[in-house]
Amino acid sequence: MPNFSFESTPDGLALKSNLQSLPGVLLLDYLHGNLGYRLTPERVLHEPLAKVIDHQAFVIDATGGLGKDSLMMAMMGCKVWMCEAHPFLYPLIQDAIQRALIDPYFNLLFTHPDKFQFFPEDAKNILEKLVGTEKAQRPDIVYLDPMFPLRKKTSLVKKNMQWLKAIHQEALTEHFMPLTPEKDLFELSLQVATKRVVVKRPAHAPNLVPLPAPNFSKSFQSGRFDVYLC
Ligand SMILES: C[S@@+](CC[C@H](N)C(=O)[O-])C[C@H]1O[C@@H](n2cnc3c(N)ncnc32)[C@H](O)[C@@H]1O
Repeated sequence: MPNFSFESTPDGLALKSNLQSLPGVLLLDYLHGNLGYRLTPERVLHEPLAKVIDHQAFVIDATGGLGKDSLMMAMMGCKVWMCEAHPFLYPLIQDAIQRALIDPYFNLLFTHPDKFQFFPEDAKNILEKLVGTEKAQRPDIVYLDPMFPLRKKTSLVKKNMQWLKAIHQEALTEHFMPLTPEKDLFELSLQVATKRVVVKRPAHAPNLVPLPAPNFSKSFQSGRFDVYLC
């Protein structure tokens, strides 16, 4: 990883970069700051995600990223399996989970496998094992939030997205992470979900695949959720 390195800091494990284009370091904190605020049980119910996800559902988040959406769904009351395969990300996620254990709500989530489980591996492995199994074993919902080219880099909210984009570029350049393409995950998701597949897209992005068309979409400020009923 020529452009990136891990550093243990008093605030937790951080990813550093020598790329000038990247602001600060990448350090995940589920308890404080904007993310911590959005992840409180009262606040998550106001998130756009809460409008397309049944709060009692068993959800597989196949593209976990930094864990924001997975943890929102878990805080809403869903049972969540989160997959994230990028080798720069899962040590950060595991470290953030450890630090969050001091909070009673997160402690409940992270110590009960029937509420939340993190799989630091390619989602294809998890989804494939469920194809053809009994309905009771399969998730109600598979959630996908595929990478999408960034259009602007200005706002603070986008800082983490700049990092995500840069580390995925690094993975491609260094050829160390042949992740299953998200379109293939989508095909598998349709076979595995018993109720719906939900795909997050930027506002004006095309659908993830030309066909099938989503059964419906729900727009929010910066994007939309495409919902495919199963
Ligand atoms: C846009 S990010 C998701 C952001 C996430 N929704 C959040 O709240 O932080 C997409 C993530 O999907 C992950 N990803 C893509 N393909 C994957 C696969 N086949 N298995 C596991 N993770 C995958 C990427 O590594 C990337 O971190």
